[in-house]
Amino acid sequence: MAFDLLFSEKKLGALTLPHRIVMAPLTRSRSSQPGDIPNDLNVEYYKQRASAALIITEATQISPQGKGYAYTPGIHSPEQIAGWKKITDAIHQQGGHVFMQLWHVGRVSHSILQADGQLPVAPSALAVTEGQAFTETGMLDFETPRALETGEISGIVDQYRQAALNAKQAGFDGVEIHAANGYLLEQFLKDGTNKRTDRYGGSVENRVRIVLEVTQAVTDVWGSDRVGIRLSPTGTFNSMTESDPFGLYSHLIEQLNPFNLAYIHLVERFGISKEADDNDFDFVHLRKLFNGAYIANGGYSGETAEQSLTANESDFIAFGVPFIANPDLPARIQKGAELNTPDFDTFYGGDAKGYTDYPALKS
Ligand code: PHB
Repeated sequence: MAFDLLFSEKKLGALTLPHRIVMAPLTRSRSSQPGDIPNDLNVEYYKQRASAALIITEATQISPQGKGYAYTPGIHSPEQIAGWKKITDAIHQQGGHVFMQLWHVGRVSHSILQADGQLPVAPSALAVTEGQAFTETGMLDFETPRALETGEISGIVDQYRQAALNAKQAGFDGVEIHAANGYLLEQFLKDGTNKRTDRYGGSVENRVRIVLEVTQAVTDVWGSDRVGIRLSPTGTFNSMTESDPFGLYSHLIEQLNPFNLAYIHLVERFGISKEADDNDFDFVHLRKLFNGAYIANGGYSGETAEQSLTANESDFIAFGVPFIANPDLPARIQKGAELNTPDFDTFYGGDAKGYTDYPALKS
């Protein structure tokens, strides 16, 4: 198959990217302890993948409160900023581009991961009902989080603002606001987790409010053309439910348009499981409604990516799992080469095995 569009240049906000293959954010849980600090092994991993048109980093905690998993990195201490600077330098030396994904997990955490053993925070005091929290001392049952006071929300927005400033210091090309996959911002968006009666809950206008405030803060720091946002309207990961995803996300996109963001990044299928669950949600409607670029994600191959671009249903395609196993994924797709098989057992945590030891094609 000819990949004419996949390997054509396109602008993404302030950047001009050489092709359309983006590396999706991937939690790999390999930062140094104590301190959740990016290290030299992480530098090697990202450097190997710099041929992506754009790398979006693994989800990165914006504050100690935003942490939800053992060994994930942060962007709130000087040591973390210095660690990330080595990564952005390595990617830039290879001619690549990189955005940092800004993450606050909300209720998807555990008091053992929080400062002074405090409860995780959320829009409402409702616990995650499936799965367990991944902590340094093993898997633990989720706890019922503490509902944030109205007066605390501006402090959450400030955490995003500070993290955006820190990401700038660390040499990133821009940032992605993580508003997907059941974490804090999505907990506000979706009505299964947001039972608030203040101006951050109830109507869709109220439920999108914190996302718009965060978007304002982050674009104040970066300029709108270096900011994107990730959304998962149909996602149920982390026990998420929404009674009217189409209405909610149509409204959200309309409200995001005045910010002139570089992109929206849609999780069309959640790819952590091998079986992607298909659905008939109208993602094309959201694409048409939005005034910037559309990055599609979820189970794409080179062929289906080219088809999506040809049908004008997306501008870029983000690949997750294929980038874990194939550091040189764009070259492999372009040449029609075979892909390495991902090893699910080494996705999270551990060392170089299953992280930096997947071979590139011999040239
Ligand atoms: C995960 O660690 O499983 C994870 C993190 C961030 C996501 C999705 C999954 O957005």
